[in-house]
Amino acid sequence: MTKTPMDKGGAPRQQAIDRARTMTTAQGGPVADDQNSLKAGARGPTLLEDHVMRDKIFHFDHERIPERVVHARGYGVHGHFELTEAIPDLSCADIFQRVGEKTLTFTRFSTVAGNKGSFDLARDVRGFATKFYTKEGNWDLVGNNIPVFFIQDAMKFPDLVHSVKQAPDRGFPQAQSAHDNFWDFISLSPEAVHMTLWQMSDRAIPRSFRFMEGFGVHTFRLINAEGRSHYVKFHWKPRQGLQSVVWNEALKINGADPDFHRRDMWDAIDAGDFPQWDLGIQVFDDAFADDFEFDILDPTKIIPEERVPVRRIGTLTLDAHVDNFFAETEQVAFCTQNIVRGIDQTNDPLLQGRNFSYLDTQLKRLGGPNFTQIPINAPKCPVHHFQQDGHMAIRNLKGRANYEPNSWGEDGGPRENPEIGFASHPEEVTGTKQRVRSETFADHYSQARQFWISQTATERRHIAAGYTFELSKCQHERIRLRMLGHLMNVHDDLANAVAKGLGITEMPEPAKPARTPITDLPPSDALSILKN
Ligand code: HEM
Repeated sequence: MTKTPMDKGGAPRQQAIDRARTMTTAQGGPVADDQNSLKAGARGPTLLEDHVMRDKIFHFDHERIPERVVHARGYGVHGHFELTEAIPDLSCADIFQRVGEKTLTFTRFSTVAGNKGSFDLARDVRGFATKFYTKEGNWDLVGNNIPVFFIQDAMKFPDLVHSVKQAPDRGFPQAQSAHDNFWDFISLSPEAVHMTLWQMSDRAIPRSFRFMEGFGVHTFRLINAEGRSHYVKFHWKPRQGLQSVVWNEALKINGADPDFHRRDMWDAIDAGDFPQWDLGIQVFDDAFADDFEFDILDPTKIIPEERVPVRRIGTLTLDAHVDNFFAETEQVAFCTQNIVRGIDQTNDPLLQGRNFSYLDTQLKRLGGPNFTQIPINAPKCPVHHFQQDGHMAIRNLKGRANYEPNSWGEDGGPRENPEIGFASHPEEVTGTKQRVRSETFADHYSQARQFWISQTATERRHIAAGYTFELSKCQHERIRLRMLGHLMNVHDDLANAVAKGLGITEMPEPAKPARTPITDLPPSDALSILKN
């Protein structure tokens, strides 16, 4: 006689294991046959009543969500941040209070311009976005591997991105060699020239994600318990060092292994070789900001590390793969507006626009306002509010009160708490309402020149070769010449090397600067011109 599991005395356990491994529909019903649809006769039509097939195909049909409008190709990794220097004097952010304390993190690296299926080693800026699940809410540091940006005002972001992605008529992806549209836009936007020097440098073809720096780019604020504000720039310094490939290697690697960077990260974590970055801060006050030659709100400028040294206050360790790429890497939603008490915004016009853009795009990308309930986005601290309903509301509040103020006492739900709640820095703001770019943002060449001068001979050769390769793809002479006009304002050596590479013998007129580059002036004039 065949023994049933019950006879073996292990019935509940045995059956539980079988059930646990039994395939079901999304409704939980066990599936008997996952190979064949339900038909009227062996060679007859498939029946509409086949709920098993409908359940399966319906879901498959809806697997895709919109890819990110930028930074579509990314790779996410779990980790933790450990504080090595407490900074209560500068910030009351909970994450910066106790040396040795660890905070869980999720980091997503990305390319900017390429679509989701593009290759890893395009010449491009890399995104470096980290979500810190702090005890007082999520803090997102949404940065890049280059410390400056192409544009100064978010108003120009759609144009920048349109110019670098597929042209609307031909639909070619532009990730590898940007083309007429990109250089047309850039050469008409002198504020972008500094960033293009970084972009043509080896930084834009990193050896792997593990060997890149990261930058918050904008100036933010740190606010201490007394409400005192300091300005801050955030940096990630890789403990592995900084490494890049050269252009010929990048081209070959892209052909041989388009997943080179993500595979490198996967292999390193698999091998227990966990990459680490130190979190650095450059802290300065109003007096420094007033004296600095450039506007600290201008995201096309850096603050040289010789002027304000980077102070390392903690270490990020990336030590775990995602369980599921889509659920975590694809559904993670970073936003510059996700800040915590002790950190605050500034009036950088690019940052202000980003604060609007991320939430707005995620509403569509993730299908409604409840994406903070997706585990990768959910805070790991208690969450209490009166937000409710909307698509996919899976954690609506309990109890009768869904408004405040209310007089239901203990049953009345969460209350405001001015003692630990977020308070914006009470910055005084006055001014005429107008569409304008501050005059203090107008020097577009000085820092580009400083960057060029700071490079070694080999690095300069690579930068010139980068421009030469990219501009050689431009079909239109006027765009090449216009760009050359900007490079003449950066440095003659650079302009001459690129002209030679492009076979241009007659140099154009240099671009007319919006204002005299500061490095052309004696230092005293350089300072006074910005203060006028
Ligand atoms: C995505 C960085 C400027 C709009 C991203 C991501 C990073 C990033 C790292 C990828 C996030 C992820 O991995 O999911 C930056 C930096 C900027 C900048 C450092 C300048 C300093 C802007 C501006 C805008 C913008 C000016 C718009 C006004 C977006 C959008 C996404 C995105 C819409 C896609 C978000 C999503 O679908 O989840 N950015 N960005 N970015 N960025 Fe930016």
